[in-house]
Amino acid sequence: MVGRTVAGMTNNPPVTVLGLGAMGRALARTLLAAGHPTTVWNRTPGKDDELVAAGAVRAATVADAVAAHRIVLACLLTNDTVDEVLTGVPLDGRILVNLTNGTPAQARALATAYGPDRYLDGGIMAVPPTIGGPHAFVLYSGSAPAYDEARPALETFGEARYLGADPGLAALHDIALLSGMYGMVGGVLHALALVRAAGVSATGFAPLLTRWLTAMAGGVGRYAAQLDAGEYGRDVVSNLGMQAAAWDNLTDTARAEGVDPRLLAPLGDLMRRRAADHPDEDLTGIVELLKETA
Ligand SMILES: NC(=O)c1ccc[n+]([C@@H]2O[C@H](COP(=O)([O-])OP(=O)(O)OC[C@H]3O[C@@H](n4cnc5c(N)ncnc54)[C@H](OP(=O)(O)O)[C@@H]3O)[C@@H](O)[C@H]2O)c1
Repeated sequence: MVGRTVAGMTNNPPVTVLGLGAMGRALARTLLAAGHPTTVWNRTPGKDDELVAAGAVRAATVADAVAAHRIVLACLLTNDTVDEVLTGVPLDGRILVNLTNGTPAQARALATAYGPDRYLDGGIMAVPPTIGGPHAFVLYSGSAPAYDEARPALETFGEARYLGADPGLAALHDIALLSGMYGMVGGVLHALALVRAAGVSATGFAPLLTRWLTAMAGGVGRYAAQLDAGEYGRDVVSNLGMQAAAWDNLTDTARAEGVDPRLLAPLGDLMRRRAADHPDEDLTGIVELLKETA
């Protein structure tokens, strides 16, 4: 549906999308479905047929794509790719919204290179099939005026959350969220491998695992409060000494079933070290050991 301003002008600003991988195609598809005129470019031809059929304009070159619209959205493999693709392309008068995964330092460097007043960095917290759906959210940081102008387009992807003027903030939050996710996925894969090795159906086990992880996610807020206060012994539910004492049961069981516990081992090592001096703390005390290795 096409949005309208009070003046009767279209409120769906046109957008250029650079990069038509799985994510870039999902973004372009969503923009088109929401009524945003969309110009697309990809290094390798042939990935835009479906989008052109849906109304997108195919740009022959990056320069043509950038020249087409004020809002230029990049979703490429890495930030090196962004630099490579945009080098030598005039970006005058353009807003660059970079939704490529990267580090906070890369985001700040790109903002400096392309102009802090027109650079917006983004972290997509969704996978391509969920773009535009109720669970998708995208984090943004950098130029506030650029965010305000691009917002009608950005909100088509899912909840848009602006974190502040520091261009590195979106990447910081994105990387922290991904770190939490990969830690969880490591545990999930270990657990599934363990039951499979013991002859139990992973599919049958999965609902129990989901239920358990959902319940345990309720502890994130308590951990966060302990970290913010620097009080790892506050509101302890399960003390570290007890948890460390049970740890060998995890690794012994894995080995007995022929599963290498390498995904879990680093956490157990940190727990044992911290529990030696701080058995009454919560699990959160191990972050002190992470500082030591920084
Ligand atoms: N997919 C996800 O679940 C997901 C979720 C959140 C964030 N992201 C982020 O979104 C970005 C894009 O991901 P994706 O899933 O779309 O990846 P992808 O399917 O692998 O697509 C990569 C894109 O980068 C382009 N590219 C790679 N190297 C290039 C080069 N040297 N010059 C020009 N173009 C180049 C590819 O063009 P060609 O077609 O020519 O190879 C393609 O358009 C990544 O930063 C990713 O981390 C992805």
